Amino acid sequence: MNARPAAVIVLAAGEGTRMKSATPKVLHPIGGTALLGHAIRAARATDAEHVEVVVRHERERVVEFCREFDADLVIADQDDVKGTGRAVECGLDALPAGLAGTVLVTYGDVPLLTGETLVALANDHVASGSAVSVVTSHVPDPTGYGRVVRDASGHVERIVEQKDASEAERAIREINSGIYAFEADLLREALGRVGTDNAQGEKYLTDVVQIARESGRDVRAHVVDDLWQTEGVNDRVQLSALGRELNRRTCERHMREGVTIVDPDTTWIDVDVTIGRDTTVLPGTQLLGATTIGSDAVIGPEVTLTDTEVGDGAYVQRAVANLALIGPGALVGPYSYLRPGTRLGAKGKIGGFVETKNADIGEGAKVPHLSYAGDVTIGEGANIGAGTIFANYDGLAKHHSTVGRASFVGSQTVVVSPVDIADGAYVGAGSVLTDDVEPGQIAVARARQRNMDRWVDRSRPGTATARAAAEARERAASAEPETTEPASTESEDR
Ligand code: UD1
Ligand code: CA
Repeated sequence: MNARPAAVIVLAAGEGTRMKSATPKVLHPIGGTALLGHAIRAARATDAEHVEVVVRHERERVVEFCREFDADLVIADQDDVKGTGRAVECGLDALPAGLAGTVLVTYGDVPLLTGETLVALANDHVASGSAVSVVTSHVPDPTGYGRVVRDASGHVERIVEQKDASEAERAIREINSGIYAFEADLLREALGRVGTDNAQGEKYLTDVVQIARESGRDVRAHVVDDLWQTEGVNDRVQLSALGRELNRRTCERHMREGVTIVDPDTTWIDVDVTIGRDTTVLPGTQLLGATTIGSDAVIGPEVTLTDTEVGDGAYVQRAVANLALIGPGALVGPYSYLRPGTRLGAKGKIGGFVETKNADIGEGAKVPHLSYAGDVTIGEGANIGAGTIFANYDGLAKHHSTVGRASFVGSQTVVVSPVDIADGAYVGAGSVLTDDVEPGQIAVARARQRNMDRWVDRSRPGTATARAAAEARERAASAEPETTEPASTESEDR
C-alpha cells in the first residue's frame, strides 16, 4: 500500500553547541552534502505534499542553504519556546490550516535515515490505523536518549527523557529515535496540551505519545534494526563516524553495481557521484561533488576529482582535477593538476607535472611533460614539447593562444599569449614565441648557437677542462694522421 504523507517536518532549529563551530551543525557536510541536505532528500523520497524545515538557530544561513538545495521547501520559524514539541507546533502553523493525513517528523541532524525507511514508516502507520508511530531501536547503550516505556501488554505507553527517567526506566534499552508518523489532527490537538513541566523546561514532542494513549488512541513502535539510520550528529566525533559509514555504504553500492574499489577504506565517494561498470578505483582516491566516471576507466591511486567528468576507458593516476572534462581513453598523470575549464579530448594526454586551466586540448593531442597550459586551444593530434609554458598573463590581463591541428611545439618553448600557431606548423625548441605561425612554417625564436675555438685554452689554462680538451685533440689527431688541423666548428651569429 502506498500512503502519501501530507507533510514531512524536518527539525533543524536546535543549536548544536557540541560541534563548537561557527557553522550551524546541520550545514556540516558528509558525503559532499550538508547533514540537512541528506534529511531533506529522505523526506522528498516519500513524495509528501509538503516538505518543511523548522529553523531558528543561525536562521539566515540555514534558510539560504534550504532555498538553494530545494526551492519548494516550506520554511517555518520556531519562536523562543524551546523543545521538539514547540518546533513541530511552529511547523504545523506554517502549513495549510486544514492539513489532514499523515505528518512525518524527522531531524536535520540524522543523515543516514533513508527514504525507504520513511516510506515504510508511513505505509505501516496508515495500514495500522495508529495515531502515532514512533521509530525505535534496541541499542546496547541507551544513555542520553528518550526511553520507550511499554505497558504490560507490550503497547507503547509513553516516552521518558533520560533527565526525567527513573532508575528502572533508564535501564530500558529501547530508545526513541525521534522519527515519527502522526495523524495530523491528533498531533495538532495533542501539542496544544503539551506543557513544559519537565527537567529541561521544554515542550517535549515525546509527550504527544502519552496524550494519544490517554485519549484512547493507538501508538505503535516502528522498530528499525539498522542503528546507523537513526543516529544523530551531536559532535565532530559522530560527524566523522557517520561520514565514514555513509562512505562505506556508498562504496558498497558502487561495488554492487559493478565498480571495482580496491580499498574502500581509503576511497571517498560523495553521494552524487556516478561511476560506470568495470571501472576500477585504486586506493587513496576521492571522487567529489558532481563527478561522473564512465565505464572501463581506471582512477587512482591518489586521485582527487571534483565536479569532473571522465569518459569511458580513461586512465587517471595521481592527479587533482576540478571542473574538468577528461575524454574517453585519455591519459592523465602522474602528478597533473587540471583546473577549471580543462577539456581533454578523446585519447589525449596530460602528463607528469603539467598544470592546465581553461585549456581545450583536442582529440589525441598531448601535453606530456612539465608544462603550463592556461587559456589555450590545442588542436587534434598536436604535440606540446616538454617544459612548454603558455604565458597567458601579462600582469594586467589574461590572453588566449591557439595551437593548430597536428602541430608540433618544441620543448621548452614559451608562448607569449596571444599567439596563433596554425594547423600543421612547427615551433623550434627553446623558442620564445610572440608572433603567429602560418601553416607549414617552422618558427625558431631564439639566439643562434655560437662556438668559439680555443676559448678554454685562453680563458681557463691549466685546468682539468683545458687538459681534457688537449687530450681530446691529441686523440683525434692520432686517429686521423692525414689531417694536420682539426676542422673549425666555430659558427658566427647571423
Ligand atoms: C530527542 C528526543 C529523545 C530522542 C532523541 C533522539 C524529545 C523531547 N526528545 O532528544 O526522546 O531519544 O531526540 O535523538 O523530543 N530541535 C528543534 N527545536 C528545539 C529543539 C530541538 O528544532 O527547540 C531539533 C534539533 O535541531 C534536532 C532535533 O530537534 O534536530 C532533536 O533535538 P535534540 O535537542 O538533539 O533532542 P534530544 O534532547 O537529543
Ligand atoms: Ca540529539
